[in-house]
Amino acid sequence: MSSSILITLIALGLTGGLAFFVSAGFRGSGKVSDYAPNLTKYRTDDDLETKTLDRTLTVAVLVASLLTIMIPLYYLGEETRQEGFVEEFDEVSIERGEHLYEEFGCGNCHGVDGSGGAASYVEKRSGINVTWEAPAINNVFYRYDDEEVRYWLIWGRANSPMPAWGLDGGGPMNDGQLDDLIEYLHHFQISQNDELSTIEMSINSSLLRLETSELLVENEIARQKELIQSVKDAPSKLPVLEKAVTDVSALLSKEGGIDTDEDGLTDSVEVDISTYSANINEVLGTSILNLDPDNEESIPGRKDKSVANGFLSQLESELINIRIVADGYDKFLGEAETGLAFLEKALEEKLWEVSFEEIADSTFDGDIDKAKRAIGLFNAYCARCHTAGYSAGVAYTKEIGSGGLGPALRAGRANIQFKQREDMIDFIVKGSVNGKAYGVNGVGGGKMPGFGAVLPESDIALIIDYLRGLKQDA
Ligand code: HEC
Ligand code: HEC
Repeated sequence: MSSSILITLIALGLTGGLAFFVSAGFRGSGKVSDYAPNLTKYRTDDDLETKTLDRTLTVAVLVASLLTIMIPLYYLGEETRQEGFVEEFDEVSIERGEHLYEEFGCGNCHGVDGSGGAASYVEKRSGINVTWEAPAINNVFYRYDDEEVRYWLIWGRANSPMPAWGLDGGGPMNDGQLDDLIEYLHHFQISQNDELSTIEMSINSSLLRLETSELLVENEIARQKELIQSVKDAPSKLPVLEKAVTDVSALLSKEGGIDTDEDGLTDSVEVDISTYSANINEVLGTSILNLDPDNEESIPGRKDKSVANGFLSQLESELINIRIVADGYDKFLGEAETGLAFLEKALEEKLWEVSFEEIADSTFDGDIDKAKRAIGLFNAYCARCHTAGYSAGVAYTKEIGSGGLGPALRAGRANIQFKQREDMIDFIVKGSVNGKAYGVNGVGGGKMPGFGAVLPESDIALIIDYLRGLKQDA
């Protein structure tokens, strides 16, 4: 950039100098005369042919040689100049992409840095509000190319919390914005080493999930029971809350009286509202205030007045919620109880369970560690698409490899689709390509990621052993 500015400055200087020189020439010696120009005496022929001519020629030669030097120089700088433009354009694009990432809340689900997160979502079978895992996307280009990522962005992922973002999918972003977003995603990809270093952690956490599954579902059952109780309590809570909102509003708008700490709340109001909050706490579970009439910040850093106003807002929003529940009592109770029944059945069936011993015996010559690693890998890297309900949590997880976004892989399917093990390796390493055939009758949709840049061959081999080892009747 700076070189082109320099060149422009030199060119401007030269043109200016030339203009001055030429006009100075025309003005001759600059003497003011009363006679018409053709009657005044001009320079002698000698003068014109030596001094003036020499001077003009020198300048001409100088300008010509400067141009000779500058044009190649400009040409030489052209490539970096163009690159500079592209770089600058990229930077602007990344900036716009970052803005979109923030504006549309990608980080709420995928993490601010794209390292993965979760989203609140109503699980369809159970009607329960679950925490759905959202994959890391600071590594998404190790498994998908730009076009595949663009596909997910445009269309989102149906039956998951991932919304459609492209205009074609009914979302808000045009092609240019998607370009910027993709540029930004590229910008925050982690290094391949960092990606590979997450393997052990991913395996461990998926194995831990298996180990603690029962406990996780039991916790969820306990939460669901609490939910049912809260629905049942709603009708009796409603009048108490309505009265509380009226009473506290009245207390807060009370005027006159002594206000020792001069915080805008009289001493008696501070005492009364504190007592009142303690009294309703038992029934409503709302917060208890301890306002000190001698201290304007009974909780350091927070003015008593705003604490009291906050308490009223809490009551008001609670009232709105309770009203909704009380109004739709039968519906809410029915849904919550259906959910509980679903969870209890899940705990009974334990469809998430995997027997390491069986797999070790059938596939890995009794090597339990290999069986564990294979299952850990499958659950960490494949289950979210190939095991129904996996992302929603343990209680919703169907049999391993039962199929979801991707086809079911149970019962020796892998051997039917891929007669040769090598073809299957190739497929898992590269992933599918939109419209391209794979295996015996597979047609790629570009949705199956490639794992060649994410997992070492040995781990891919373990997963493949496991899948090919599944019995036809498994
Ligand atoms: C409400 C939560 C939510 C928001 C907001 C969201 N996503 Fe997603 N996204 C998901 C979930 C969940 C998945 C995975 C779906 C599944 O397979 O269960 C996903 C999948 C993806 C994928 C595919 C990755 C893969 O390997 O499967 C990409 C890329 C992606 N999101 C990018 C984005 C971007 C960029 C934004 C912001 C414009 C965004 N997402 C906003 C929840 C969200
Ligand atoms: C983001 C979702 C996703 C993930 C993660 C995923 N797959 Fe897939 N997989 C698919 C989809 C979708 C297909 C079907 C082909 C397509 O639409 O591209 C597929 C196809 C397959 C097939 C061919 C099945 C057949 O019968 O046609 C195999 C085998 C397979 N995946 C294995 C795996 C393994 C092993 C992993 C983990 C290392 C994995 N997949 C991870 C989505 C996924």
